[in-house]
Amino acid sequence: MFVTEGFHHVTVVSRDAGVTLHFYRDVLGLRLVKQTVNFDRPTTYHLYFGDRVGSPGSILTFFEWPDAAPGAYGLGGVHHIALSVPDEAAQLMWKRRLTDAGVPVSGPYNRGYFTSIYFRDPDGLVLEIATAGPGYATDEPADSLGQSVQQPPPAQLPGYRDESEIAALTHAEPVETVTPDMAITALHHVTGFTDDAAAAGEFYERTLGLKLIKRSVNQDDPTTPHLFWGSYDGQTVKSASSLTMFEWPERARRAQEGVGQTPTSPTAPRTRSSSPPGVSTCSRSGSACRRSETDPTSRASTSTLRTASSSRSPPTRPGSRSTRRSTRSGPSCGCRPGCPTSASPSRRA
Ligand SMILES: [Fe+2]
Repeated sequence: MFVTEGFHHVTVVSRDAGVTLHFYRDVLGLRLVKQTVNFDRPTTYHLYFGDRVGSPGSILTFFEWPDAAPGAYGLGGVHHIALSVPDEAAQLMWKRRLTDAGVPVSGPYNRGYFTSIYFRDPDGLVLEIATAGPGYATDEPADSLGQSVQQPPPAQLPGYRDESEIAALTHAEPVETVTPDMAITALHHVTGFTDDAAAAGEFYERTLGLKLIKRSVNQDDPTTPHLFWGSYDGQTVKSASSLTMFEWPERARRAQEGVGQTPTSPTAPRTRSSSPPGVSTCSRSGSACRRSETDPTSRASTSTLRTASSSRSPPTRPGSRSTRRSTRSGPSCGCRPGCPTSASPSRRA
């Protein structure tokens, strides 16, 4: 059977290539491995970021659609993209580096299979930095992943976590440069939404050869099923192969294409009438685009980070009026402003 090895890359829409370049290269330390144009719309930039050699599974790419409307996550779309680091020490260094750069960060949260911090890129895309381990075999045997529903331990759930203690955790010193021991190594997982997990599984398993490796719940909203697929040989799950889905009701909002979301078509839904400055100097037949004062690299030098609004989401699923009241000082469901998985299906587009 044909088996998909894992992610090659994920593409997202950005508003401003210069701002994107500054964030992913200068703050997150990824390498700009390709600066080109969208081959289906050569008047727009297409930037590729990845590890030192641009390895498959490490690549994030961006279409610059300056005039596109903001996107929104929902059914059929991506909720967040997780990037992999070796361990929790590296993760705390990222938390310190990002917060010092003015980027709000939540976590670290113990998810059982990995530990996670969350933040948003300048266009509002939810990003996660996750540790490589301990892996999916922490609550079921490595040779039978995904066979039964795994309920997270209460200590990992809203109302039981010490949110104040979690918020206070960070690296002790400023992190002014990205050192090799904290470098982002690959895409860890990508999480989206489905209103039919069975149909999604049928597609990912039969068509792409992925395997169901975990059946659990959204640990920030345990009423929401959370399913994981990956390239799994019965013993190990390949790096950069985990695709996860929150299952929302059919009536929940659908994703909207636009800035901060993955594109559903190769061309922008709304574009300005003229070519972006600088792009017109690109020659598909030439070896490279000539830089102008408006190319992403030069623009990045004057870019400032923009932090995205985190006011999108009420905490509970539609039809669920109950909230989980904390017995401690934490929020009702872990979905305080900035909580990345506060994505609620009750807020429809
Ligand atoms: Fe995640």
